[in-house]
Amino acid sequence: AIEVLHTYSLIHDDLPAMDNADLRRGIPTLHKTYDEVSAILAGDALNTYAFEILSNAPLADRVIVKLVRSLAHNGGVNGMVLGQAIDCQFENQRLELDQVKMLHIHKTGKLIAASLQMGAYIVGRDEVAQELYDFGIDLGLLFQIQDDILDVTQNDEQAGKTTNNDQAKNSFVTLLGFEKAMKEANTLADKIIRQMTSFDENLQRELSPTLNHYINRHKD
Ligand code: IPE
Ligand code: MG
Ligand code: MG
Ligand code: MG
Repeated sequence: AIEVLHTYSLIHDDLPAMDNADLRRGIPTLHKTYDEVSAILAGDALNTYAFEILSNAPLADRVIVKLVRSLAHNGGVNGMVLGQAIDCQFENQRLELDQVKMLHIHKTGKLIAASLQMGAYIVGRDEVAQELYDFGIDLGLLFQIQDDILDVTQNDEQAGKTTNNDQAKNSFVTLLGFEKAMKEANTLADKIIRQMTSFDENLQRELSPTLNHYINRHKD
């Protein structure tokens, strides 16, 4: 369900009215292959389908309600949609560092945080849900700083998506420059690794493959 909602957000993100990108996951974007109407409607359909998937999950109804609430809250106007709105509204208008962090936390961090929180709900470990959510916010911010870095360090073929596309955006690189953006990413990665060691052993074991992938991403 999270992937489905995420895919909707990318299909819409690539539309001419938003980032106007021609390539995603190594193939032409949906509006390029078909047309804008199809891309808008495919996104709409995936957005609602995500919640249909959750509603049919083989879980207790009270768990499903929590999952729906988390995905709706973090994917919607309090989360990803708000971040996307700020991202697009403030093109060509410089934001402060704290405001860019807020933007990145909403457009990217909140869905990653929700995925961790939802995992805790599914396995009945509600007592760690908040801690994991907060961890996900930092991880999501790191992911987006790395994404901003990849926009200037990779070409379309390497990234599998349109890069060199953030000049008008409030990205970490446009705001701080490449060196300082790398420094922010590394400082945050260190904080995340420290946070990780506060989790119990089982959680650390489950999270470490994902974490290693995130931490090493910008060194690729
Ligand atoms: C998009 O951020 C975040 C979404 C909510 C889809 P970007 O615009 O930076 O993502 P890329 O670089 O196109 O993948
Ligand atoms: Mg975008
Ligand atoms: Mg984009
Ligand atoms: Mg990007």
